[in-house]
Amino acid sequence: MRRHHKAPGTISIVPRRMKLPFRSVSRYWFNREPVQTHLLNALSLTFPDGERFFVDSVRAFRHAATDPELQRAISGFIGQEAMHSLEHAEFNRMLEAQGYRQQVADGQALARRFIAGGRKHLSPVEQLAVTAALEHITAIMAQWLLHNETILAQTDPQARALWLWHAIEETEHKAVAFDLLQEVTGGDYLTRVRVMAPATWLLLVYTSIYTLAFLRQDRLHQRPLTLARGLWQLARPGGLLSSMVPAWCRYFKPGFHPWEDDDSERIDHWYATLEQTLALNQAA
Ligand SMILES: [Fe+2]
Ligand SMILES: [Fe+2]
Repeated sequence: MRRHHKAPGTISIVPRRMKLPFRSVSRYWFNREPVQTHLLNALSLTFPDGERFFVDSVRAFRHAATDPELQRAISGFIGQEAMHSLEHAEFNRMLEAQGYRQQVADGQALARRFIAGGRKHLSPVEQLAVTAALEHITAIMAQWLLHNETILAQTDPQARALWLWHAIEETEHKAVAFDLLQEVTGGDYLTRVRVMAPATWLLLVYTSIYTLAFLRQDRLHQRPLTLARGLWQLARPGGLLSSMVPAWCRYFKPGFHPWEDDDSERIDHWYATLEQTLALNQAA
C-alpha cells in the first residue's frame, strides 16, 4: 500500500546555522539529573556521524522523488541535518572540556564503526529504511521533550537552546526520509519495518554503554540510589522511555505515516520558547 501524506501547510523545513555557545553548561544540564543527562550526552556522540549517514542515504535516492514538494523537503532535510552535525560536534567538544575526553573519543569511534558497518553491509534501500526508522525515533523523542515544559525549564539554558532547536527541526522534517522511502519502494511494508527492531537494539546497546561510561567517569556507577532515581525518571509513567514505547510501536501499523500525529500547531510556540532561551543566553 502506498500512501503519500503531505506535511501540514504551516511546516517549512529551513536550515538554520545557530553557532550556539556552550561556555558554562552545568555538568548535569538536563533536569539537574545525571542519568538522563548522560543518556542525552551519549546520544549526542552519535549525531555528527549519524546525521551524515542520514543525509547520504537520502541523497542517494533524491533523483527518485518526482513530487517538487518532496524535492524541496529533501533540500531542507539535508541542510537541517548538516547543521545539527555541526552544533553537536561543538557540544561534544564541550563534553571533552568537561573532562570526558576518553568517553567522547571512544564513543564517537564506536558510532563510526557501527555506521561504517551499515554502509558496508546494507543495501542503499535498507540504509534509507534505517534512516526512516531512526528518524521516527528522533521524532518521538523530540515530541516528548517538546511537551515537557517543566523539565525544559529546569534544563541549563545553553544546552536547552541546542536540544530545543534540534527537537523542533526533527519534528519539521520527520516525514522526509519516510516519504522518500515510500516513493522508492512503492510503499513496501516489510522493507520499512524489518530494520526497525535491529536499529533500535543497536541504538539501545550503544546508549546504554556510553551512558554508563559517562556515569563511571563521575564515579556514580556505584551509587545505587542515584542510578535508581535516574532510571525511575526514564521509566516512570510520562518518562522518556515509557512514553516512547507506544509511539515506537505505531511504526509497525500498516498505513502508518509520521504526520498522522500532527503537533505542527505547537511549532510557533516552541520557536517562541527557543527565542526566549536564546535571549536569556545572550543576556547572561
Ligand atoms: Fe537531526
Ligand atoms: Fe532528523
